[in-house]
Amino acid sequence: MDEATVTETERPTAAPAPTTGAPPSQAEAPVDSIFSLHDVQVRYGDFVAVKDVSMEVPRNKITALIGPSGCGKSTLLRCLNRMNDLVPSAKVDGEVLYHDTDIYGTNVDPVEVRRRIGMVFQAPNPFPKSIYDNVAFGPRINGYEGSLDDVVEESLRGAAIWDEVKDKLGSSALSLSGGQQQRLCIARAIAVTPDVILMDEPCSALDPIATLRIEDLMRELTESYTIVIVTHNMQQAARVSDMTAFFTLEVDEDTDEKAGVLVEFDETERIFTNSADPRTEAYISGRFG
Ligand SMILES: Nc1ncnc2c1ncn2[C@@H]1O[C@H](COP(=O)(O)OP(=O)(O)OP(=O)(O)O)[C@@H](O)[C@H]1O
Ligand SMILES: [Mg+2]
Repeated sequence: MDEATVTETERPTAAPAPTTGAPPSQAEAPVDSIFSLHDVQVRYGDFVAVKDVSMEVPRNKITALIGPSGCGKSTLLRCLNRMNDLVPSAKVDGEVLYHDTDIYGTNVDPVEVRRRIGMVFQAPNPFPKSIYDNVAFGPRINGYEGSLDDVVEESLRGAAIWDEVKDKLGSSALSLSGGQQQRLCIARAIAVTPDVILMDEPCSALDPIATLRIEDLMRELTESYTIVIVTHNMQQAARVSDMTAFFTLEVDEDTDEKAGVLVEFDETERIFTNSADPRTEAYISGRFG
């Protein structure tokens, strides 16, 4: 993987990001961060969906975002690759540093941001094209000049689906099972050599066996990638992630409106066995949310 940059003109160093602004519950050891969020807030028009989020997302690890419905997990996830730009009413305040570069900086190309920071969605969403063309799509539009066959094979192998599809690369992606389609979408995400893969409830449409397959795959992918995953499945967060961020809805005293806030962010083991905030334990144990 080449050193991460957001634009060709601006080549930030890959040095660890500063850890200032981290919530006090976060592990104290210096973090090799890929993202540093400082006071991030996202509004849709006047409605504040999530606010006051400061956290360091570590490189080559899996970070899980958990919390009750509506607390802004997907909104925050979409901040990390500027997908919220596609929602006209969305406005992001605060700072999202990616390898020390503010991805909302004026000279940053959002298309390049999304190439480096890929996304896998809740429902598998392959294009109505062949398996091959799904994976080749990104490299083609990026003008990749090497062997597409090689990229397709490597990406499908990387997503642990090569053996199942290698003899039918010309078949429609829609003929695959849901779990296969989701792995194909992961292959499609990998094919453009991203640095980070964002996943929004990637297993919620899958059966337990396909879910475990994806979780195994996620663990393998952390050798090369950083993963941030939103999940409603507490067992999944506990099984697969290294770090967990728990969000909840809090009533704003000034406006009386509910907004999502980051309650606690720490090593997953600590969040699940010895969390600092009682709201975290209440949520994880199913007593709330
Ligand atoms: N495009 C949008 N326009 C306006 N409001 C939105 C938009 N997307 C999300 N919201 C609102 O922002 C808040 C946070 O939504 P978000 O989808 O981020 O929550 P979530 O934590 O991912 O919830 P869930 O667990 O149900 O997926 C909600 O109140 C939601 O209604
Ligand atoms: Mg969501």
